[in-house]
Amino acid sequence: MKVHRDGSWPIEAAESLLARLRERPQMRLCLATGSTPLPMYSRLAQHPDAFAAASVLLLDEFGGLPADEPASCDATLRRVLIHHVRPADYRAIATDHLGEPAAVDAWIDAGRLDLVVLGIGVNGHLGMNEPGAPAEGRTARVDLEPTTIEGAQRYFEGRVRPTWGVTVGLGDLLAAGEVWVLAAGESKVDIVRRSTEGPATTAVPASLLQHHPDVTWWLDR
Ligand code: GLP
Repeated sequence: MKVHRDGSWPIEAAESLLARLRERPQMRLCLATGSTPLPMYSRLAQHPDAFAAASVLLLDEFGGLPADEPASCDATLRRVLIHHVRPADYRAIATDHLGEPAAVDAWIDAGRLDLVVLGIGVNGHLGMNEPGAPAEGRTARVDLEPTTIEGAQRYFEGRVRPTWGVTVGLGDLLAAGEVWVLAAGESKVDIVRRSTEGPATTAVPASLLQHHPDVTWWLDR
């Protein structure tokens, strides 16, 4: 496990990702939204050719949103990154048909995920894999915990109140070649500590990363 603890991490993380893309232009990435990775994505957006051969999978999506909701995970990632860098392949997650989880799994099975970029919920969730989610789980429709529903109101400003979503499962996140977790701010201090120093347990999904051989935590001070 590597830990970067520095206020300039969005820049460093973006530089590290660009270096990986130079080495391996056809990387397959799975990317989170949420607010934490946005500064890194704005930095990456200044390199319009870096993702030309790369494939990007969206990590998760809230259910029950109007099609034009600007704070959906898809709309957010398109606005901050995809629209600027135009990867060879971009796979969003639809929430309005039952066959979507299996279709996302098929996308993942077409080649290993090289790098997963995650945020972390205050309850330790990864994507929308809430406490108790199976460590082997694959893409699924899931219910959100009350803290996650409340937390999401930062993005939706009262327009909608999603209570469920579709997320890539812990099994595929833990099987990725490399995993990054980005966390910033006071509210994440306790859960980062529990995830990195506490017991590895499905009760704290991010703690399961202790079993992964190549995890980097990007933290602010
Ligand atoms: C949300 C998302 C996660 C995100 C996390 C943290 O509910 N489902 O993918 O990483 O919570 O979000 P933020 O970075 O805004 O704190």
